[in-house]
Amino acid sequence: MDIKISDKIKYVGIDDIDIDLFENQYPVKQGISYNSYLILDHKVALLDTVDQKKEKEWINNLLNTLNGRSIDYLIISHLEADHAGCIKSIVSLFKDITLVGNIKTFTMLPQFITINEDVKKLVIKENETLNLGEHTLRFLLAPMVHWPEVMVTYEEKEKILFSADAFGKFSALINEDDDWACEARRYYFNIVGKYGIPVQNILKKVSLLDIKIICPLHGPILKENLSYYLSLYNIWSSYIPEDKGILIVVSTLHGNTLKIGEYIKEELIKKGEEHVKLYDLSHADISEIVEDAFRYDRMILLGVSYDGGLFIGMEDFLIHLKMKAYQNRTVALIENGSWAPCANKLMQAYLENMKNITLIKPFITIKSTIKESDKIAIDHLLEGIAVKK
Ligand code: FEO
Repeated sequence: MDIKISDKIKYVGIDDIDIDLFENQYPVKQGISYNSYLILDHKVALLDTVDQKKEKEWINNLLNTLNGRSIDYLIISHLEADHAGCIKSIVSLFKDITLVGNIKTFTMLPQFITINEDVKKLVIKENETLNLGEHTLRFLLAPMVHWPEVMVTYEEKEKILFSADAFGKFSALINEDDDWACEARRYYFNIVGKYGIPVQNILKKVSLLDIKIICPLHGPILKENLSYYLSLYNIWSSYIPEDKGILIVVSTLHGNTLKIGEYIKEELIKKGEEHVKLYDLSHADISEIVEDAFRYDRMILLGVSYDGGLFIGMEDFLIHLKMKAYQNRTVALIENGSWAPCANKLMQAYLENMKNITLIKPFITIKSTIKESDKIAIDHLLEGIAVKK
């Protein structure tokens, strides 16, 4: 794929459309790209390798772009396997190469690969630079955006930010569409969502730079309207809702609880709510539900009591929310149980363990199927959660 950055800076990454689950957990029907970049100056620098699964094809791309030149530096932005999977091969192919990373990079590197002690290493510190000729790389540490050793690199001549996992998204470049935010949001909240404060820290650092292009490790190269992407990252990493809307999340065995969810959805639309989404936990992709839980300001959970606990799906969802630091939202609880309802109490315990969650009271209990008396209680609850017109 011919992706143009500039005369001296080349895209040498690779699409993976064979993958079904990224990190063996997130469905990626449109695949994913492992981005990698080459700076051809007096010295040649490679910014990151790719997943080992795509090694053969990637090395072929790389050698074609090098056109007989060697590589002087390999910048290691991040050691996760989707980017560092071919370091060993690069070191064997280019014997004189220098690996560039920070102290944490080189502490963690031996956990993943064994390389000869003779391989040259350049340990950089915050804000240090590396001159390649006309181009100069400035390194900014970005710990916990997504792992401890992550760093981003700013190229001063062409004003390019190589942003590691930040500003990345799901989808192979060949399948890229115009809606960047949809898959970038799902990627952000599921992969980097827990690390809002570290993301805020790197946003503060890069706000001091004049950036013309952002080159992430996944997804498209961002060349225009950069304030749009930066402002979304600011919203997401601040845990502020992006939109006003209500997410209805249902666990259901035989469909009775789903019917309650459908009733609620209709009533909310009648009340003029513009964004109402309903998910059945048994069928929806949990990473989509997590994405929307963070996107919107309010959520209604419909849990089913099952064997004295929560019916599967809801428990998993709440564990995901806790893991990703869900906070600053309003939540209403409805339980369904036929003889000993306990779901509200269990869902409440999870939510009270999260930061700044407003629980709408009273919680509602429904016995098996929705009845007219339940509708009255639900209508009262919806008055408390719907946007006042
Ligand atoms: Fe794309 Fe954290 O690896």
